[in-house]
Amino acid sequence: MRRKAEKTPGIIYLDNNASTPLGPGIVPVMAACLEETFGNPSSSHFAGETAKKVVEHARVKVADLIGASPEEIIFTSGGTEANNMAILGTARRFKSGRIITSCTEHPSVLNPLKHLEGAGFEITYLPVDRYGLVNPRDVDMNIKSDTILITIMHSNNETGTIQPIAEIGRIARKRKIIFHCDAAQSVGKVTVDVKKLHVDLLTVVPHKFYGPKGTGALYRKKGTELSPIMFGASHEKGLRPGTENVAGIAGFGRASETAKKELPERAQTMKRLTKMFYSELRAGIPGIKLNGHPVKRLPNTLNISFPGVSGAVLLERLKNEIAASTGSACHEGRQTPSHVLRAMGLGDKEALSSIRLSIGRDTTKGQIRKAAGSIVRAWRSLSSESGDSRA
Ligand SMILES: Cc1ncc(COP(=O)(O)O)c(C=O)c1O
Repeated sequence: MRRKAEKTPGIIYLDNNASTPLGPGIVPVMAACLEETFGNPSSSHFAGETAKKVVEHARVKVADLIGASPEEIIFTSGGTEANNMAILGTARRFKSGRIITSCTEHPSVLNPLKHLEGAGFEITYLPVDRYGLVNPRDVDMNIKSDTILITIMHSNNETGTIQPIAEIGRIARKRKIIFHCDAAQSVGKVTVDVKKLHVDLLTVVPHKFYGPKGTGALYRKKGTELSPIMFGASHEKGLRPGTENVAGIAGFGRASETAKKELPERAQTMKRLTKMFYSELRAGIPGIKLNGHPVKRLPNTLNISFPGVSGAVLLERLKNEIAASTGSACHEGRQTPSHVLRAMGLGDKEALSSIRLSIGRDTTKGQIRKAAGSIVRAWRSLSSESGDSRA
């Protein structure tokens, strides 16, 4: 299935930050589960025990990938649920207070916070610099006696900028504030070690690293209390009721195991290809701008503003050649610029001219060359249509 998806009539898939194809060995592991491991992990007979073993084996592998203990992993339905569990679960525990976050978080963090704002919680949205970085000193300065939570993402899904999480974590620990980190885009692409990052809660999303969709996890450091946000039976330490997605969790475990093994090499290869991609684009298009930090960034992500064209129009022109995305949203037929790029100081026009290109473990040098050529050609033709003299 993976091969078929990649070979979609010559279209090069460069949207791995949205989701990745399943990695090697994932389909057989999941298929075996679907076919054979039919029991409910909570049942005490043979079928239940077999299913429970599968879930617990995966828990060990997920924990191992991020330097946690298996008891610290709570399986969820994905990143959105893990973020909601961390934020709303902390808010329900404390009942009131202040939460610190950044302006460039994913909607699955910003929208639960907006909900809490409506319920009387005070939310501090920290600014970012032109590279999208939060200043740890701003975190420190904004902590008040009633601050209950800090939630800052590890790496940004649009730009790939990696935040100084370990530094923020040290501050949070010193000030005894719970620290949640949405590491949806980092796990599997760069090393994530919960101890080195000094986090209390951390979101993991396997469909960003060749695992299945519809499953995810929240790391919860031993001793960090959360109130449940869903109610039912006592699964997942009373925090996530509902019969487990056994096949999804098994795929998640396998993807974690593979990521751990492949990580250093995977990151190096992607970094090399991304660098080459950027050089080829720069050589062909004068005035392109890389959005995000030049060094503190994910190895696979390029967010680029293309002079004089709309990112959405450029992608539409390229739709039979490459699959990528813009950070902008389309509302009632009108593009709204990305909140991430706006927070970094880009004007509407520059933000709307950007595209996110995110490569994956299977992207080849040949594909990069071809994609760069296609983008340059499409940009030139759009620029000449609009009479831009740079083309
Ligand atoms: C940074 C970040 N957080 C959270 C999520 C949500 O994950 P999921 O799609 O599993 O709900 C995503 C997915 O795009 C993401 O990029």
